[in-house]
Amino acid sequence: MPISFDSEHRVFKLDTATSSYVFEIYEQNYLLHLYYGAKIPDSNLSAHRYKGWFGSHPPLNINIDDTDFSPDVSMFEYPCEGSGDFRETAFAIRNADGNNTTDLRYVSHKIYPGKPVIDGLPSLHVNSDSDADTLEILMRDAVTGVSAILYYTVFSGYGAMTRSVKIINESDKAVEIERVFSTCVDFNTHDYDMITLYGNWLRERNFERTSVKHIKQGIYSRRGLSSHAQNPFGAIVGKDTNEEYGSAYGFNLVYSGNFEFSCDSEPHGGIRVLMGINPDTFGWHLEPGDKFSSPEAVMVYSNEGLGGMSRTFHRLYTNHLIRGKWAHIKRPLLINNWEATGMDFTGDKLVTFAERAKELGIDMLVMDDGWFGKRDDDKSSLGDWQVNEEKLGGPLKDFIARINALGIKFGIWFEPEMISRDSNLYREHPDWCLHVPGREKSIARYQYVLDFSRKDVRDYIYSLMKDIIAENNIAYVKWDCNRSLSEVGSAILPPGRQKEVFHRFVLGTYEVMDRLTIDFPDLLIENCSSGGGRFDPGMLYFTPQIWCSDNTDPVDRIDIQFGTSLCYPASTVGAHVSASKRAGFGTKGNVALWGTFGYELDPNTFTPEDIDIIKDQVSEYHKYYDLIRNGDLYRLISPWESDRRAAWMMVSEDKNEALLTCVTMRKEWGEAFILKLRGLDPEKYYVDDTTGEVYSGALLMNAGLNLTDYPQNDGDSFKIYLRTL
Ligand code: GLA
Repeated sequence: MPISFDSEHRVFKLDTATSSYVFEIYEQNYLLHLYYGAKIPDSNLSAHRYKGWFGSHPPLNINIDDTDFSPDVSMFEYPCEGSGDFRETAFAIRNADGNNTTDLRYVSHKIYPGKPVIDGLPSLHVNSDSDADTLEILMRDAVTGVSAILYYTVFSGYGAMTRSVKIINESDKAVEIERVFSTCVDFNTHDYDMITLYGNWLRERNFERTSVKHIKQGIYSRRGLSSHAQNPFGAIVGKDTNEEYGSAYGFNLVYSGNFEFSCDSEPHGGIRVLMGINPDTFGWHLEPGDKFSSPEAVMVYSNEGLGGMSRTFHRLYTNHLIRGKWAHIKRPLLINNWEATGMDFTGDKLVTFAERAKELGIDMLVMDDGWFGKRDDDKSSLGDWQVNEEKLGGPLKDFIARINALGIKFGIWFEPEMISRDSNLYREHPDWCLHVPGREKSIARYQYVLDFSRKDVRDYIYSLMKDIIAENNIAYVKWDCNRSLSEVGSAILPPGRQKEVFHRFVLGTYEVMDRLTIDFPDLLIENCSSGGGRFDPGMLYFTPQIWCSDNTDPVDRIDIQFGTSLCYPASTVGAHVSASKRAGFGTKGNVALWGTFGYELDPNTFTPEDIDIIKDQVSEYHKYYDLIRNGDLYRLISPWESDRRAAWMMVSEDKNEALLTCVTMRKEWGEAFILKLRGLDPEKYYVDDTTGEVYSGALLMNAGLNLTDYPQNDGDSFKIYLRTL
């Protein structure tokens, strides 16, 4: 049984494929955490209960006759504010008396096959109840009557579990939720490093590893979006953990708004890891009878290093996060006009793109920003989702018919959550954007943010989108979002509920995305937020791919795509060949192949040599499609280990195929380049598809391949495809 309850010792044990997670019901119904780590057979871990050295006069519970127990040092499963635990806590309400002392204790539990959905929020799914088991723990605060249900789901066959919390106000008075983290894990030592993914526009998700210190450290977003600055991903790893060996705990929040991932040290030597909605910008008013659901946190444990952790996330997300028609079927190879034309295009010009695309074997043309209102630059028209027929040379339907007549599918760009200051919509409804009374609204890219916490605003925007998509032969939508949220207030909420707006905005966006996926199940949706500003599992639930970065330079993309790969599978990573100069078409193609693949440039500029290379790339796209999307990733040389070279491999699940890609960022003069491969079957023999050489998997992984003679000047790259005999 993946989830068991030892009623004698009152211990819960959750066994994933790689880990055990254990906690107990202690005296007075405190829920105490006991262990999370590599799988263990034991279930009675009472002797393992954490006993810290007490500082002077720790708070004690007068009803417990165990002087080793104090909330000051105990490891808690879901610690609450104000009851003797002085670390950062997972849960706090301000009750009707005005104080925020909160104390949840165990009431009951149930264990059942399957996994419940979370109302209004994206979460991982099961395809049948046999895919997972769930534990629900009911806790209650005796004084206020507020309850919490802790949800734990263990996915069978994965080293992964999920956690979330639902708060229910069972009292007869309203309360204010001040913090409600999705997960909390107390560790009894602090001998760990923390890994996070920091960045900015054009340089998203850089790997950063820091030592866990005796301080509170962590990452957050307060931008209203999960953000370029930090990804809602964090790992806690052993000091000696590397790509292949050692323990790695990966945490990822299925949420697209303000989050926090933190690690708080306590004076007795342990750490507390928290992940959830950022409490700094959050509050929620809960009337009697009301419920509030937290987002879901995904927790992966691997004792095969960072590589093992990443591969678990990838498979889990491929099978249990990404949904709909495009989860498992082949996606179209597309060309997008943005980097080639910006908003300076005409229908005729785009038809020439489609003509060239057809000659090259590309499946779809995406018309990016600039097709609506009076939008010839970024100063106007967001919100005025009416087709600019003058620009397209006629109605959208006729323009798409010209594209379709060439055998090319058609996709289109929207930025639904935004409104330009210069737009008819803003002139008609200036109160429809986020704002606070009496203050100037900050403007970014000449635009404001629509108040998507409001249903009337969402309904209006969605009805425009829906008409355009329903009335035209649109196969793909790029959903963009190009600014952070400031002056976050809503005209229709009372002052006491203004702290809810950040979260209501996220829920509103999810609601529109949900409608879009239900109304148009065949539509392929790509998410984008000035590149990868909202690259998170919340978005992946609705959109199976996300434009990874506006930076399409293949050398810069190495850092971005390696960082992204820590948590997210290649099938989700929007990557195109562009006109960027730092490397030739070959390397641009090799890097973009490790993603959704496509083109982002003017095909009318291609030379005959370019066309030959691109035709080869298109056939490689088809040849390696399954291997790259469904294979296991092995990062052989990561940019955080070397600024000279990068190398990665995709290996099919049956280990019969592998594709190695190497890119040189800076030439290594005069050194042999021997690379030991990973993930192969040592017993099998593999043939190098280009040279015809045959090697055993054992040789490739232990002696390695001598790659010294392969092209290795700055910006060069090469691939080696291996398959079993
Ligand atoms: C963002 C996106 C780009 C492009 C532009 C259009 O920057 O990341 O790919 O769609 O918006 O304005």
